Amino acid sequence: MKTLCLGIETSCDDTSLCLLEHENGTSSILSFKTFSQETILREWGGVVPEIASRNHLEKLLPLLKQVFEDAQRSIDELKLISVTTHPGLLGPLLTGLNMAKTLALFTKASIVPANHLMAHLEAIGLTQGYNSYPYLGVLVSGGHTLFAKVTGPLEMEILGTTLDDAAGEAFDKGGKLLGLGYPAGRIIDLLAGYGNKEAISFPIGLKDKKTANLSYSGVKTQLRNYLEKNPELILTPDQRDLILKDPSVASQEFKDVCASYQHAIVNAIILKLKMAFELNDLKELPIVVGGGVACNRYLRIRLKENFKNVSVVEPKYCTDNGAMIAHYGCLLQELAIPFPKCLGLDARDRIISKRGEKENQLVLN
Ligand code: KG4
Ligand code: ZN
Repeated sequence: MKTLCLGIETSCDDTSLCLLEHENGTSSILSFKTFSQETILREWGGVVPEIASRNHLEKLLPLLKQVFEDAQRSIDELKLISVTTHPGLLGPLLTGLNMAKTLALFTKASIVPANHLMAHLEAIGLTQGYNSYPYLGVLVSGGHTLFAKVTGPLEMEILGTTLDDAAGEAFDKGGKLLGLGYPAGRIIDLLAGYGNKEAISFPIGLKDKKTANLSYSGVKTQLRNYLEKNPELILTPDQRDLILKDPSVASQEFKDVCASYQHAIVNAIILKLKMAFELNDLKELPIVVGGGVACNRYLRIRLKENFKNVSVVEPKYCTDNGAMIAHYGCLLQELAIPFPKCLGLDARDRIISKRGEKENQLVLN
Protein backbone atom coordinates (compact mmCIF):
# COMPACT_ATOMS: atom_id res chain seq x y z
CA MET A 1 0.00 0.00 0.00
CA LYS A 2 1.25 3.50 -0.83
CA THR A 3 2.01 5.83 2.09
CA LEU A 4 1.75 9.60 1.73
CA CYS A 5 4.57 11.01 3.84
CA LEU A 6 5.69 14.54 4.66
CA GLY A 7 9.37 15.07 5.50
CA ILE A 8 10.35 18.04 7.65
CA GLU A 9 13.94 19.19 7.97
CA THR A 10 14.87 22.16 10.17
CA SER A 11 17.95 20.95 12.06
CA CYS A 12 20.21 23.83 11.01
CA ASP A 13 19.77 26.59 8.44
CA ASP A 14 17.61 25.02 5.71
CA THR A 15 13.85 24.89 6.00
CA SER A 16 12.87 22.00 3.76
CA LEU A 17 9.65 20.08 3.20
CA CYS A 18 8.95 17.18 0.91
CA LEU A 19 5.79 15.28 0.17
CA LEU A 20 6.31 11.82 -1.26
CA GLU A 21 4.57 8.55 -1.83
CA HIS A 22 6.31 5.40 -0.64
CA GLU A 23 5.77 1.76 -1.42
CA ASN A 24 8.06 -1.23 -0.74
CA GLY A 25 11.26 0.76 -0.24
CA THR A 26 10.70 3.07 -3.21
CA SER A 27 9.82 6.75 -2.83
CA SER A 28 8.25 8.96 -5.51
CA ILE A 29 8.60 12.64 -4.80
CA LEU A 30 5.42 14.62 -5.35
CA SER A 31 6.66 18.02 -4.21
CA PHE A 32 9.87 19.26 -2.64
CA LYS A 33 10.57 22.85 -1.43
CA THR A 34 13.53 24.31 0.42
CA PHE A 35 14.21 27.77 1.77
CA SER A 36 17.91 28.28 2.41
CA GLN A 37 18.93 30.93 4.93
CA GLU A 38 22.34 31.30 3.28
CA THR A 39 21.96 34.96 2.30
CA ILE A 40 20.45 35.93 5.65
CA LEU A 41 23.14 34.13 7.63
CA ARG A 42 25.97 35.49 5.49
CA GLU A 43 25.42 38.84 7.28
CA TRP A 44 26.07 37.11 10.61
CA GLY A 45 29.10 35.09 9.46
CA GLY A 46 27.52 31.75 10.38
CA VAL A 47 24.50 30.06 11.92
CA VAL A 48 22.93 31.91 14.84
CA PRO A 49 20.45 29.39 16.34
CA GLU A 50 17.87 32.00 17.44
CA ILE A 51 17.85 33.66 14.01
CA ALA A 52 17.69 30.30 12.24
CA SER A 53 14.71 29.26 14.42
CA ARG A 54 12.86 32.50 13.73
CA ASN A 55 13.32 32.04 9.99
CA HIS A 56 12.15 28.42 10.12
CA LEU A 57 9.00 29.61 11.92
CA GLU A 58 8.37 32.22 9.24
CA LYS A 59 8.90 29.85 6.32
CA LEU A 60 7.36 26.57 7.49
CA LEU A 61 3.70 27.42 6.93
CA PRO A 62 4.06 28.99 3.45
CA LEU A 63 6.22 26.02 2.36
CA LEU A 64 3.67 23.56 3.74
CA LYS A 65 0.91 25.23 1.76
CA GLN A 66 3.07 25.14 -1.37
CA VAL A 67 4.00 21.45 -1.18
CA PHE A 68 0.37 20.34 -0.78
CA GLU A 69 -0.80 22.69 -3.56
CA ASP A 70 1.96 21.56 -5.93
CA ALA A 71 1.27 17.90 -5.27
CA GLN A 72 -2.48 18.53 -5.55
CA ARG A 73 -3.03 16.49 -2.41
CA SER A 74 -5.10 17.26 0.65
CA ILE A 75 -3.70 17.40 4.15
CA ASP A 76 -6.32 14.83 5.26
CA GLU A 77 -4.57 12.19 3.12
CA LEU A 78 -1.38 12.45 5.17
CA LYS A 79 -0.50 9.17 6.90
CA LEU A 80 3.05 9.68 8.04
CA ILE A 81 5.17 12.63 9.14
CA SER A 82 8.93 12.17 9.30
CA VAL A 83 10.77 14.89 11.16
CA THR A 84 14.43 15.41 12.02
CA THR A 85 14.81 15.14 15.79
CA HIS A 86 18.51 14.48 16.16
CA PRO A 87 21.23 15.69 15.86
CA GLY A 88 20.95 19.42 15.27
CA LEU A 89 20.41 22.79 16.92
CA LEU A 90 17.74 22.51 19.58
CA GLY A 91 15.75 25.66 18.70
CA PRO A 92 15.62 24.91 14.96
CA LEU A 93 14.77 21.24 15.63
CA LEU A 94 11.87 22.29 17.86
CA THR A 95 10.31 24.44 15.15
CA GLY A 96 10.09 21.42 12.82
CA LEU A 97 8.90 19.11 15.55
CA ASN A 98 6.18 21.55 16.60
CA MET A 99 4.94 21.68 13.03
CA ALA A 100 4.91 17.88 12.91
CA LYS A 101 2.88 17.67 16.10
CA THR A 102 0.44 20.36 15.02
CA LEU A 103 -0.15 18.52 11.75
CA ALA A 104 -0.63 15.25 13.64
CA LEU A 105 -3.23 16.97 15.78
CA PHE A 106 -5.23 17.86 12.65
CA THR A 107 -4.69 14.69 10.65
CA LYS A 108 -4.07 11.97 13.28
CA ALA A 109 -1.00 10.97 11.24
CA SER A 110 1.85 9.09 12.94
CA ILE A 111 5.26 10.66 13.44
CA VAL A 112 8.65 9.07 12.80
CA PRO A 113 11.55 10.81 14.54
CA ALA A 114 14.38 10.78 11.99
CA ASN A 115 18.11 10.73 12.61
CA HIS A 116 19.66 13.34 10.34
CA LEU A 117 22.95 11.48 9.76
CA MET A 118 21.36 8.21 8.68
CA ALA A 119 18.93 10.17 6.51
CA HIS A 120 21.87 11.79 4.64
CA LEU A 121 23.24 8.33 3.74
CA GLU A 122 19.92 6.62 3.06
CA ALA A 123 19.14 9.47 0.62
CA ILE A 124 20.93 7.24 -1.92
CA GLY A 125 17.65 5.29 -2.06
CA LEU A 126 15.88 8.31 -3.56
CA THR A 127 17.61 7.70 -6.88
CA GLN A 128 18.90 4.14 -6.70
CA GLY A 129 15.91 2.30 -5.31
CA TYR A 130 16.26 -0.02 -2.35
CA ASN A 131 19.57 -0.05 -0.41
CA SER A 132 21.32 -3.26 0.47
CA TYR A 133 23.24 -3.63 3.71
CA PRO A 134 25.94 -3.55 4.86
CA TYR A 135 27.62 -0.63 3.11
CA LEU A 136 30.38 1.76 4.03
CA GLY A 137 28.73 5.10 4.70
CA VAL A 138 30.80 8.23 4.14
CA LEU A 139 29.10 11.23 5.67
CA VAL A 140 30.70 14.55 4.77
CA SER A 141 28.72 17.57 5.90
CA GLY A 142 29.04 20.88 7.72
CA GLY A 143 28.66 19.24 11.13
CA HIS A 144 30.05 15.72 10.59
CA THR A 145 32.72 13.80 8.76
CA LEU A 146 32.72 10.08 9.42
CA PHE A 147 33.17 6.63 7.93
CA ALA A 148 30.80 3.95 9.21
CA LYS A 149 29.82 0.40 8.46
CA VAL A 150 26.06 0.67 8.09
CA THR A 151 24.41 -2.65 8.84
CA GLY A 152 20.78 -1.53 8.69
CA PRO A 153 18.68 1.63 8.73
CA LEU A 154 19.16 1.90 12.50
CA GLU A 155 22.70 0.70 13.04
CA MET A 156 26.15 1.90 12.23
CA GLU A 157 29.63 1.11 13.43
CA ILE A 158 31.91 4.15 13.34
CA LEU A 159 35.27 3.34 11.70
CA GLY A 160 36.73 6.81 11.62
CA THR A 161 35.72 10.37 12.30
CA THR A 162 37.17 13.86 12.33
CA LEU A 163 38.96 14.77 15.52
CA ASP A 164 38.26 18.48 15.08
CA ASP A 165 36.50 20.24 12.17
CA ALA A 166 34.15 18.52 9.74
CA ALA A 167 35.02 18.72 6.02
CA GLY A 168 32.27 21.31 5.43
CA GLU A 169 33.53 23.31 8.38
CA ALA A 170 37.02 23.27 6.87
CA PHE A 171 35.54 24.70 3.64
CA ASP A 172 33.50 27.28 5.56
CA LYS A 173 36.30 28.39 7.90
CA GLY A 174 38.74 28.58 4.99
CA GLY A 175 36.16 30.64 3.10
CA LYS A 176 35.89 33.02 6.03
CA LEU A 177 39.68 33.53 6.08
CA LEU A 178 39.61 34.21 2.33
CA GLY A 179 36.81 36.76 2.74
CA LEU A 180 34.25 34.60 0.90
CA GLY A 181 31.72 34.64 3.76
CA TYR A 182 29.48 31.80 4.98
CA PRO A 183 28.92 29.12 3.78
CA ALA A 184 31.83 28.75 1.39
CA GLY A 185 31.89 25.13 0.16
CA ARG A 186 29.96 25.74 -3.04
CA ILE A 187 31.85 28.88 -4.07
CA ILE A 188 35.26 27.31 -3.31
CA ASP A 189 34.18 24.35 -5.46
CA LEU A 190 33.39 26.75 -8.35
CA LEU A 191 36.56 28.84 -7.93
CA ALA A 192 38.72 25.74 -7.64
CA GLY A 193 37.44 24.68 -11.05
CA TYR A 194 39.54 27.50 -12.57
CA GLY A 195 42.62 26.98 -10.38
CA ASN A 196 45.78 24.89 -10.21
CA LYS A 197 45.51 22.41 -7.34
CA GLU A 198 49.30 21.90 -7.26
CA ALA A 199 50.06 25.62 -6.79
CA ILE A 200 50.35 25.45 -2.98
CA SER A 201 51.00 22.39 -0.89
CA PHE A 202 48.59 22.27 2.03
CA PRO A 203 49.03 19.44 4.59
CA ILE A 204 46.86 16.38 5.16
CA GLY A 205 46.11 15.85 8.83
CA LEU A 206 47.20 12.50 10.39
CA LYS A 207 48.69 11.57 6.99
CA ASP A 208 51.17 9.00 8.25
CA LYS A 209 49.07 7.66 11.12
CA LYS A 210 47.49 4.22 10.85
CA THR A 211 44.01 5.47 11.60
CA ALA A 212 40.84 6.24 9.67
CA ASN A 213 40.34 9.38 11.76
CA LEU A 214 40.78 12.78 10.11
CA SER A 215 41.96 16.19 11.26
CA TYR A 216 41.41 19.48 9.47
CA SER A 217 42.93 21.93 11.97
CA GLY A 218 46.37 21.86 10.26
CA VAL A 219 45.15 22.75 6.78
CA LYS A 220 43.18 25.68 8.17
CA THR A 221 46.24 26.97 10.08
CA GLN A 222 48.37 26.65 6.95
CA LEU A 223 45.85 28.69 5.00
CA ARG A 224 45.87 31.35 7.74
CA ASN A 225 49.69 31.46 7.62
CA TYR A 226 49.65 31.68 3.82
CA LEU A 227 47.19 34.58 3.92
CA GLU A 228 49.24 36.41 6.57
CA LYS A 229 52.13 36.36 4.08
CA ASN A 230 49.83 37.27 1.16
CA PRO A 231 47.22 39.60 2.72
CA GLU A 232 46.37 41.18 -0.66
CA LEU A 233 44.55 37.94 -1.52
CA ILE A 234 41.89 38.41 1.18
CA LEU A 235 38.73 39.72 -0.46
CA THR A 236 36.99 42.97 0.41
CA PRO A 237 33.17 42.73 0.70
CA ASP A 238 32.84 44.37 -2.73
CA GLN A 239 35.23 41.92 -4.38
CA ARG A 240 33.40 39.05 -2.67
CA ASP A 241 30.03 40.19 -4.01
CA LEU A 242 31.42 40.33 -7.56
CA ILE A 243 32.98 36.87 -7.23
CA LEU A 244 29.79 35.35 -5.82
CA LYS A 245 28.00 36.58 -8.96
CA ASP A 246 30.75 35.42 -11.33
CA PRO A 247 33.60 33.29 -9.91
CA SER A 248 35.62 33.60 -13.13
CA VAL A 249 36.48 37.26 -12.28
CA ALA A 250 38.66 36.26 -9.29
CA SER A 251 42.45 36.58 -9.69
CA GLN A 252 44.32 33.47 -10.86
CA GLU A 253 46.26 33.35 -7.58
CA PHE A 254 43.01 33.35 -5.60
CA LYS A 255 41.63 30.52 -7.74
CA ASP A 256 44.87 28.58 -7.20
CA VAL A 257 44.59 28.94 -3.42
CA CYS A 258 40.99 27.63 -3.55
CA ALA A 259 41.98 24.67 -5.76
CA SER A 260 44.94 23.76 -3.53
CA TYR A 261 42.92 24.08 -0.33
CA GLN A 262 40.08 21.96 -1.75
CA HIS A 263 42.65 19.40 -2.99
CA ALA A 264 43.96 18.97 0.59
CA ILE A 265 40.45 18.55 2.07
CA VAL A 266 39.47 16.00 -0.56
CA ASN A 267 42.81 14.15 -0.39
CA ALA A 268 42.28 13.60 3.33
CA ILE A 269 38.87 12.00 2.69
CA ILE A 270 40.26 9.68 -0.02
CA LEU A 271 43.31 8.71 2.03
CA LYS A 272 41.36 8.00 5.21
CA LEU A 273 38.62 6.14 3.38
CA LYS A 274 41.32 3.85 1.95
CA MET A 275 42.64 3.49 5.49
CA ALA A 276 39.18 2.52 6.76
CA PHE A 277 39.21 -0.35 4.25
CA GLU A 278 42.78 -1.31 5.08
CA LEU A 279 42.29 -1.38 8.85
CA ASN A 280 38.98 -3.23 8.85
CA ASP A 281 37.93 -6.42 7.17
CA LEU A 282 35.60 -4.76 4.65
CA LYS A 283 36.51 -6.58 1.42
CA GLU A 284 34.51 -5.08 -1.48
CA LEU A 285 31.90 -3.39 0.66
CA PRO A 286 29.90 -0.90 -1.45
CA ILE A 287 30.44 2.76 -0.53
CA VAL A 288 27.63 5.30 -0.13
CA VAL A 289 28.57 8.98 0.16
CA GLY A 290 26.20 11.70 1.37
CA GLY A 291 26.03 15.09 3.14
CA GLY A 292 26.51 18.66 1.84
CA VAL A 293 30.19 18.23 0.90
CA ALA A 294 29.22 15.29 -1.33
CA CYS A 295 28.00 17.98 -3.79
CA ASN A 296 31.65 18.85 -4.35
CA ARG A 297 32.53 18.16 -7.98
CA TYR A 298 36.20 17.38 -7.35
CA LEU A 299 35.39 14.99 -4.50
CA ARG A 300 32.88 13.16 -6.71
CA ILE A 301 35.51 12.71 -9.44
CA ARG A 302 38.19 11.53 -7.01
CA LEU A 303 35.82 9.02 -5.38
CA LYS A 304 34.98 7.46 -8.73
CA GLU A 305 38.67 7.37 -9.71
CA ASN A 306 39.74 5.68 -6.48
CA PHE A 307 36.95 3.26 -5.62
CA LYS A 308 35.10 0.71 -7.72
CA ASN A 309 31.80 0.32 -6.00
CA VAL A 310 30.91 3.86 -4.94
CA SER A 311 27.52 5.59 -5.09
CA VAL A 312 27.24 9.29 -4.32
CA VAL A 313 23.89 10.85 -3.40
CA GLU A 314 22.47 13.18 -6.11
CA PRO A 315 23.64 16.77 -5.42
CA LYS A 316 20.06 18.02 -4.87
CA TYR A 317 19.65 15.49 -2.03
CA CYS A 318 23.11 16.09 -0.50
CA THR A 319 22.61 19.36 1.37
CA ASP A 320 19.99 19.31 4.12
CA ASN A 321 16.60 18.50 2.64
CA GLY A 322 13.14 17.23 3.49
CA ALA A 323 13.24 14.51 0.80
CA MET A 324 15.91 12.49 2.61
CA ILE A 325 13.98 12.84 5.86
CA ALA A 326 10.71 11.69 4.26
CA HIS A 327 12.39 8.74 2.52
CA TYR A 328 14.26 7.63 5.64
CA GLY A 329 11.09 7.97 7.75
CA CYS A 330 9.28 5.67 5.32
CA LEU A 331 11.98 3.02 5.72
CA LEU A 332 11.22 3.10 9.46
CA GLN A 333 7.43 3.11 9.15
CA GLU A 334 6.96 0.31 11.63
CA LEU A 335 8.63 2.47 14.29
CA ALA A 336 6.29 5.42 13.70
CA ILE A 337 4.69 6.70 16.87
CA PRO A 338 0.91 6.70 16.44
CA PHE A 339 -1.41 9.59 17.29
CA PRO A 340 -1.93 10.77 20.06
CA LYS A 341 1.22 9.28 21.62
CA CYS A 342 3.36 11.15 19.08
CA LEU A 343 2.28 14.47 20.59
CA GLY A 344 4.55 13.73 23.55
CA LEU A 345 7.64 13.33 21.37
CA ASP A 346 10.47 15.73 22.14
CA ALA A 347 13.52 16.79 20.18
CA ARG A 348 16.03 14.85 22.21
CA ASP A 349 14.57 11.69 23.65
CA ARG A 350 13.96 9.49 20.60
CA ILE A 351 16.36 8.07 18.03
CA ILE A 352 19.32 9.04 20.11
CA SER A 353 22.57 7.26 19.38
CA LYS A 354 23.27 4.67 22.04
CA ARG A 355 26.36 2.51 22.38
CA GLY A 356 25.89 -0.98 21.00
CA GLU A 357 27.57 -4.15 22.19
CA LYS A 358 30.71 -3.55 20.12
CA GLU A 359 33.02 -0.62 20.66
CA ASN A 360 32.10 2.24 18.27
CA GLN A 361 28.74 0.69 17.40
CA LEU A 362 25.87 3.14 17.45
CA VAL A 363 22.31 1.93 17.71
CA LEU A 364 19.66 4.43 16.77
CA ASN A 365 16.22 4.50 18.39
O1 KG4 B 1 24.67 18.50 4.89
P1 KG4 B 1 24.66 19.99 5.02
O2 KG4 B 1 23.65 20.76 4.21
O3 KG4 B 1 24.46 20.43 6.51
C1 KG4 B 1 24.92 19.70 7.60
O4 KG4 B 1 24.28 18.68 7.95
O5 KG4 B 1 25.98 20.13 8.13
O6 KG4 B 1 26.13 20.46 4.65
C2 KG4 B 1 26.46 21.82 4.60
C3 KG4 B 1 27.94 21.92 4.29
C4 KG4 B 1 28.48 23.33 4.40
O7 KG4 B 1 29.66 23.29 5.17
C5 KG4 B 1 28.77 23.71 2.96
O8 KG4 B 1 29.86 24.61 2.82
C6 KG4 B 1 29.11 22.36 2.36
O9 KG4 B 1 28.18 21.48 2.95
N1 KG4 B 1 28.95 22.33 0.90
C7 KG4 B 1 29.97 22.09 0.04
C8 KG4 B 1 29.43 22.18 -1.27
N2 KG4 B 1 28.09 22.46 -1.16
C9 KG4 B 1 27.82 22.53 0.17
N3 KG4 B 1 31.27 21.83 0.27
C10 KG4 B 1 32.06 21.65 -0.80
N4 KG4 B 1 31.63 21.73 -2.07
C11 KG4 B 1 30.33 21.99 -2.35
N5 KG4 B 1 29.91 22.06 -3.63
ZN1 ZN C 1 22.98 17.70 7.18
